Amino acid sequence: MPSPSTPRRADFPADFIWGCATSSYQIEGAVTADGRVPSIWDVFAAQPGTIRDGSSGAVACDHYHRWPEDLDLARQLGVNAYRFSIAWPRVFSARGRLNTAGLDFYERLVDGMLARGMRPWATLYHWDLPQFLQEQGGWGARSTATAFAEFADAVSRRLGDRVQHWITHNEPWCTVIHGHYEGIHAPGLRDFRLALQVGHHVLLSHGLALQALRRNVPQARVGLALSLHPLRAATDSAADQAATQRHDGLRNRWFLDPLYGRGYPQDIWQAVGAAAPEVRAGDLDLIAAPTDFLGVNYYFPEVVADAPGQGVLGLRIVEQAGVERTAFGWEVSPDGMVDLLQRLQRDYPTGPIYITENGASFEDRLGPDGRVDDPQRQAYLARHLAALLRARAAGCDVRGFFAWSLLDNFEWAQGYVRRFGLAYVDFQTQQRVLKASGQWYAQFLHGR
Ligand code: FCB
Repeated sequence: MPSPSTPRRADFPADFIWGCATSSYQIEGAVTADGRVPSIWDVFAAQPGTIRDGSSGAVACDHYHRWPEDLDLARQLGVNAYRFSIAWPRVFSARGRLNTAGLDFYERLVDGMLARGMRPWATLYHWDLPQFLQEQGGWGARSTATAFAEFADAVSRRLGDRVQHWITHNEPWCTVIHGHYEGIHAPGLRDFRLALQVGHHVLLSHGLALQALRRNVPQARVGLALSLHPLRAATDSAADQAATQRHDGLRNRWFLDPLYGRGYPQDIWQAVGAAAPEVRAGDLDLIAAPTDFLGVNYYFPEVVADAPGQGVLGLRIVEQAGVERTAFGWEVSPDGMVDLLQRLQRDYPTGPIYITENGASFEDRLGPDGRVDDPQRQAYLARHLAALLRARAAGCDVRGFFAWSLLDNFEWAQGYVRRFGLAYVDFQTQQRVLKASGQWYAQFLHGR
């Protein structure tokens, strides 16, 4: 039963971008096809104990072979845009060695989107660094930033006549913290100083890739996708408030400030002491070159408390009792998204914002009737779309929404345990079944 607050497509502008999102390593499989070389995720997942169910993306959704069916599914949803990522290890098999067969795949895929009336939104880095670059120092090496610009150059030369929207990086925070400090994502390192240097090289590589995209694709619209979080202090004590500021400093401002010309936030720079990254003359200007939009991946808010001696910034995340959560344990908070968007609008000259990811994992079951009933995901989606309307009414310039994800897929360290798809994937048979939430999204998009 639609409630009066259920949003309708007609409540949004006619030119609003409606999409769904995926990423290469999470869906493609076919990790040795057509000259693809290993990525850091192939290597990481092969180490015992890294992935919850011991799996990897070796087969995943076999999207590399099933992409026409998957694009048909996206078309069935009625989206007018499709966000995907381009696997660097398909495109380069060694530094400077282009693999045209890899590019051919993405050309077919992009043509497939265009033929189905969907605009391609290409992400260049969704975490699958070629292992040969890791062996040369990975993101800890400045040369990886220039290698990324060469990758951006090659891809945009080939696809720039068909792809207008480009996202350089997906969620640098995860690369930095999960990958190089907590060690729970590839490449599985635990070194805070290295992590911050990685962050700087990732931002630098964004700036260098931006130059390549501007050169090759005059009509390009370029941005990056950040995972951002609204934060609140556990109590109104001065200590918890200050801890929240510090957490914001690393979680949000560490990336936003340099991108919008403010350099690294000084409070955090000082707090991290000798772990501060090496920044060369000119780097900050490159990083702050104007972009055309900001991609926001929104999942959950965090509550922060002071915790002297804990972690690098002396704080901890407090698990609030009694709040609504997804199967992942992430708090469900559509209002948090409104707060976040208002904060961005107030504090940064972001230009148009697109929600480049939003979604939820729940315990989905394929019923004996062949249906997947997921009322919680449907409600999650509807409530976040309603929140977008509130943000727009409050003056936030949000111009699009991409649901994460089209398909259940390889959810990184969680393997296949966590399902985020609008379509269920039976990983034994590779059968796809549009979930009730996917049917709801399709109805929403086909409505007025
Ligand atoms: C984001 C990632 C995406 C997916 C979702 C659930 O952090 O960008 O690949 O894993 O979370």
